[in-house]
Amino acid sequence: MRALAVFQLKGGVGKTTTAVNLAAMAARSSVRTLVWDLDPQGAATWLLGVESDRKQDKVWSEGKPIGRFIHKTPYDKLDVLAADISLRKFHQSVADKKTARDSAASAIDRLGEDYELVIFDCPPILSPQIEGILQACDRILVPIEPSVLSIRAYEQSKEHLDWVKKKQWLPFVTQIDRRKAAHVQWAKEQAPKLDELLPIYIGHSASAERMLEMQAPIVECLPHVPFAKNYSALWEAVKDHLKL
Ligand SMILES: Nc1ncnc2c1ncn2[C@@H]1O[C@H](COP(=O)(O)OP(=O)(O)OP(=O)(O)O)[C@@H](O)[C@H]1O
Ligand SMILES: [Mg+2]
Repeated sequence: MRALAVFQLKGGVGKTTTAVNLAAMAARSSVRTLVWDLDPQGAATWLLGVESDRKQDKVWSEGKPIGRFIHKTPYDKLDVLAADISLRKFHQSVADKKTARDSAASAIDRLGEDYELVIFDCPPILSPQIEGILQACDRILVPIEPSVLSIRAYEQSKEHLDWVKKKQWLPFVTQIDRRKAAHVQWAKEQAPKLDELLPIYIGHSASAERMLEMQAPIVECLPHVPFAKNYSALWEAVKDHLKL
């Protein structure tokens, strides 16, 4: 069982879009996959066509059996541990990172019987709870859009999470628009400063909006558009790093 966190301190960069598309790609390549939605917005849950009627907060605060919170999605080999607004309590609680790490690590252990990959869709915060969950993951995938603030947020995370080994960070560029001179310049001057950057660039695409209209991962609803091809290339790269 491998655990991957999709994390970035900066909001709205494409974490959820990435989590659901990689999960759908993994499931398509026969990897039994669980998306663990950690965001009270529940966007990944919604995009995977699931509506939650359970309070995930209870998994964390009362150690409720995790299976009750897992839903099947319309896609073979892909399930989701649904999020709901109750997660706000979890993220605001004073639980320390060790408790969160131990709970996440033991949940990942138990999930290993049913899944080969769990992907955590993180909210854009760095609470002790999120840090504990990141500690239980094998790799941390970080979407970086072409902006100074995005790189800055990544550098801040690396500085704060100084226990993460360099090879565990998997930053990649997303929302790049090569028609914009500033993006081209950023790709030439800023991106090479991150020597661990994955060599896959996800373009800025109207297909991201289509995904929301169709309420489905792009690799499922429009698998032939360039945006879906970008994500299948990203999956190939991530798969190798996860040794799947
Ligand atoms: N490559 C892309 N091109 C164009 N729009 C994109 C792209 N990736 C994501 N988007 C759009 O950007 C918005 C934010 O995406 P998403 O929800 O995946 O980000 P997020 O990092 O998960 O946000 P949050 O921090 O709120 O959890 C959405 O409207 C999504 O459709
Ligand atoms: Mg999100």
